[in-house]
Amino acid sequence: MAETKITANDNGPLVINGEIELIDGAGNRIETKQATYLCRCGQSSNKPFCNGAHRTANFESAVRA
Ligand code: FES
Repeated sequence: MAETKITANDNGPLVINGEIELIDGAGNRIETKQATYLCRCGQSSNKPFCNGAHRTANFESAVRA
């Protein structure tokens, strides 16, 4: 099993469990935790992280393999 798992939550963020290195567009390292929630709805005011705004934006996406 992979050491890092990425889950596309239904109607919500990408949830990354495990160690990652997150870099911004200028090459700077962004601090992360053991579980990282990345916005994929585009509505977060704390990008690249999810801040729960997907709920009020009624974001809909259910990814299936
Ligand atoms: S996915 Fe949660 S704020 Fe965008």
